[in-house]
Amino acid sequence: MAFEWKERYMLQIEEIDKQHKRLFEIGARVYDLTLMDSAYDRYDEIMTVIQELLDYTQYHFKYEEEMLEKHNYQRLPVHIKEHNYFVAKIKSLLARDIDEDQMSTLQEIVNFLSEWISTHITFEDRRYADVIKANL
Ligand SMILES: [Fe+2]
Ligand SMILES: [Fe+2]
Repeated sequence: MAFEWKERYMLQIEEIDKQHKRLFEIGARVYDLTLMDSAYDRYDEIMTVIQELLDYTQYHFKYEEEMLEKHNYQRLPVHIKEHNYFVAKIKSLLARDIDEDQMSTLQEIVNFLSEWISTHITFEDRRYADVIKANL
Protein backbone atom coordinates (compact mmCIF):
# COMPACT_ATOMS: atom_id res chain seq x y z
CA MET A 1 0.00 0.00 0.00
CA ALA A 2 1.35 3.36 -0.95
CA PHE A 3 0.39 6.66 -2.40
CA GLU A 4 1.66 6.09 -5.83
CA TRP A 5 0.44 7.89 -8.91
CA LYS A 6 -0.31 5.50 -11.76
CA GLU A 7 -0.77 6.15 -15.45
CA ARG A 8 -4.16 4.47 -15.33
CA TYR A 9 -5.47 7.31 -13.16
CA MET A 10 -5.14 9.70 -16.08
CA LEU A 11 -8.52 11.00 -17.21
CA GLN A 12 -7.09 13.12 -20.05
CA ILE A 13 -8.58 16.28 -18.58
CA GLU A 14 -5.50 18.36 -17.94
CA GLU A 15 -6.48 20.40 -14.90
CA ILE A 16 -8.13 17.40 -13.20
CA ASP A 17 -5.12 15.16 -13.78
CA LYS A 18 -2.91 17.88 -12.35
CA GLN A 19 -5.04 18.14 -9.22
CA HIS A 20 -5.20 14.37 -8.77
CA LYS A 21 -1.42 14.16 -9.02
CA ARG A 22 -1.10 16.85 -6.40
CA LEU A 23 -3.42 14.85 -4.10
CA PHE A 24 -1.17 11.83 -4.45
CA GLU A 25 1.92 13.95 -3.80
CA ILE A 26 0.53 15.22 -0.51
CA GLY A 27 -0.71 11.71 0.37
CA ALA A 28 2.74 10.28 -0.31
CA ARG A 29 4.22 12.77 2.17
CA VAL A 30 1.82 11.55 4.87
CA TYR A 31 2.60 7.94 4.04
CA ASP A 32 6.38 8.47 4.07
CA LEU A 33 6.20 10.16 7.46
CA THR A 34 4.33 7.20 8.96
CA LEU A 35 7.08 4.84 7.79
CA MET A 36 9.83 6.57 9.70
CA ASP A 37 11.19 5.11 12.92
CA SER A 38 10.52 8.40 14.60
CA ALA A 39 6.95 8.58 13.32
CA TYR A 40 5.68 8.87 16.86
CA ASP A 41 7.68 12.05 17.44
CA ARG A 42 6.53 13.43 14.15
CA TYR A 43 2.89 13.12 15.05
CA ASP A 44 2.13 16.86 14.86
CA GLU A 45 3.91 17.12 11.54
CA ILE A 46 1.93 14.19 10.18
CA MET A 47 -1.35 15.71 11.36
CA THR A 48 -0.43 18.99 9.65
CA VAL A 49 0.11 17.20 6.34
CA ILE A 50 -3.16 15.28 6.71
CA GLN A 51 -4.91 18.59 7.28
CA GLU A 52 -3.23 19.96 4.15
CA LEU A 53 -4.44 16.93 2.24
CA LEU A 54 -7.97 17.47 3.53
CA ASP A 55 -7.86 21.17 2.54
CA TYR A 56 -6.58 20.42 -0.92
CA THR A 57 -9.12 17.61 -1.36
CA GLN A 58 -11.94 20.01 -0.54
CA TYR A 59 -10.59 22.49 -3.06
CA HIS A 60 -10.43 19.74 -5.67
CA PHE A 61 -13.95 18.46 -4.90
CA LYS A 62 -15.38 21.95 -5.28
CA TYR A 63 -13.59 22.42 -8.59
CA GLU A 64 -14.90 19.10 -9.86
CA GLU A 65 -18.47 19.67 -8.68
CA GLU A 66 -18.63 23.09 -10.35
CA MET A 67 -17.24 21.68 -13.56
CA LEU A 68 -19.77 18.81 -13.53
CA GLU A 69 -22.59 21.21 -12.85
CA LYS A 70 -21.61 23.26 -15.90
CA HIS A 71 -21.77 20.08 -17.95
CA ASN A 72 -25.17 19.13 -16.51
CA TYR A 73 -23.73 15.85 -15.35
CA GLN A 74 -26.68 13.64 -14.42
CA ARG A 75 -24.85 11.64 -11.79
CA LEU A 76 -23.66 14.70 -9.90
CA PRO A 77 -25.71 14.04 -6.72
CA VAL A 78 -24.13 10.58 -6.35
CA HIS A 79 -20.72 12.08 -6.99
CA ILE A 80 -21.20 14.81 -4.40
CA LYS A 81 -22.35 12.18 -1.90
CA GLU A 82 -19.06 10.31 -2.33
CA HIS A 83 -17.06 13.51 -1.87
CA ASN A 84 -19.02 14.41 1.26
CA TYR A 85 -18.58 10.94 2.71
CA PHE A 86 -14.82 11.25 2.31
CA VAL A 87 -14.62 14.65 4.00
CA ALA A 88 -16.87 13.54 6.89
CA LYS A 89 -14.84 10.38 7.42
CA ILE A 90 -11.49 12.19 7.53
CA LYS A 91 -12.87 14.85 9.84
CA SER A 92 -14.24 12.24 12.22
CA LEU A 93 -10.92 10.38 12.25
CA LEU A 94 -9.04 13.62 12.89
CA ALA A 95 -11.41 14.59 15.69
CA ARG A 96 -11.22 11.23 17.43
CA ASP A 97 -9.49 11.05 20.76
CA ILE A 98 -6.20 9.78 19.46
CA ASP A 99 -3.97 10.08 22.49
CA GLU A 100 -4.35 6.39 23.22
CA ASP A 101 -3.13 4.83 20.06
CA GLN A 102 -1.83 7.50 17.75
CA MET A 103 0.06 5.35 15.30
CA SER A 104 -2.74 2.89 14.64
CA THR A 105 -5.21 5.72 14.09
CA LEU A 106 -2.77 7.33 11.74
CA GLN A 107 -2.32 4.08 9.88
CA GLU A 108 -6.08 3.81 9.61
CA ILE A 109 -6.31 7.30 8.14
CA VAL A 110 -3.56 6.63 5.62
CA ASN A 111 -5.10 3.31 4.56
CA PHE A 112 -8.50 4.90 4.12
CA LEU A 113 -7.08 7.86 2.16
CA SER A 114 -5.12 5.77 -0.25
CA GLU A 115 -7.88 3.22 -0.84
CA TRP A 116 -10.64 5.80 -1.22
CA ILE A 117 -8.78 8.17 -3.53
CA SER A 118 -7.68 5.50 -5.98
CA THR A 119 -11.11 3.82 -6.02
CA HIS A 120 -12.92 7.12 -6.47
CA ILE A 121 -10.71 8.22 -9.37
CA THR A 122 -10.84 4.80 -11.01
CA PHE A 123 -14.63 4.50 -10.91
CA GLU A 124 -16.53 7.72 -10.22
CA ASP A 125 -14.15 10.27 -11.73
CA ARG A 126 -13.53 8.14 -14.79
CA ARG A 127 -17.26 7.88 -15.27
CA TYR A 128 -17.73 11.65 -15.57
CA ALA A 129 -14.59 11.97 -17.70
CA ASP A 130 -16.07 9.57 -20.27
CA VAL A 131 -19.37 11.48 -20.34
CA ILE A 132 -17.77 14.92 -20.58
CA LYS A 133 -15.36 13.91 -23.32
CA ALA A 134 -18.15 12.25 -25.33
CA ASN A 135 -20.05 15.56 -25.27
CA LEU A 136 -17.19 17.86 -26.22
FE1 LIG B 1 -14.60 13.17 -7.67
FE1 LIG C 1 -11.30 13.80 -8.44
